[in-house]
Amino acid sequence: MPTSQIPVITIDGPTASGKGTVAHRVADKLGFHYLDSGALYRLTALSALRRQTDLADEHALAKLAEHLHCSFQGGDIILSHENVTDAIRAEEVGNTASKIATFPAVRHALTGLQLSFRKAPGLVADGRDMGSVIFPHAPLKVFLTASVAARAGRRYKQLIDKGISANMEDLLMDLQARDDRDTKRTIAPLVPPEGAHVLDTSEMTADEAVDQVLQWYAGITK
Ligand code: DC
Repeated sequence: MPTSQIPVITIDGPTASGKGTVAHRVADKLGFHYLDSGALYRLTALSALRRQTDLADEHALAKLAEHLHCSFQGGDIILSHENVTDAIRAEEVGNTASKIATFPAVRHALTGLQLSFRKAPGLVADGRDMGSVIFPHAPLKVFLTASVAARAGRRYKQLIDKGISANMEDLLMDLQARDDRDTKRTIAPLVPPEGAHVLDTSEMTADEAVDQVLQWYAGITK
């Protein structure tokens, strides 16, 4: 099948909107591949933090992004032979990822890697610009949102479940700062792409959101 014919479902949305869980489950149900594009920005951020790369040096950061030695093995994320699945989820890494993602050269350096995930029988791609920039011709585009309070509550629960202490007020402030940066950056800002189905998951379970996405997909493949 030519690559351009391989179906792609894009699921974009703000941090902690539940898009990771929903995208993963939709991919499982359809037997599709899954791209967690945020992980690529997080891997670049983790590399930069570890190497003490100047976080204002766009060129050096783009080089790191271009030469990431990473692989996705089942649920595990490997960076240069090390399992960094948990390490990239740290708040500091997420915040750094959001900052370096504002650099066009970094985004450009990660484009080819993201496109390479499009393999038969299909792909579910999760991120901020999957439907607007990376896969603009995807047959199904979904934009997940949820109120800041709902998202902070989910993030709080995730952290507590992992045994990491968390403070609700700090989480709310962090989320708002990250939303601001992700939506106001000049390149590939977080906005619902044209033709996207917008789904507010504040009052929904992940399974309900998954069912809705599968229904939309069934609607276009009939
Ligand atoms: O989805 P996430 O929280 O793992 O993403 C971490 C950061 O990476 C996010 O704050 C912004 C950036 N990102 C991006 O700019 N474009 C994407 N497609 C995915 C993530």
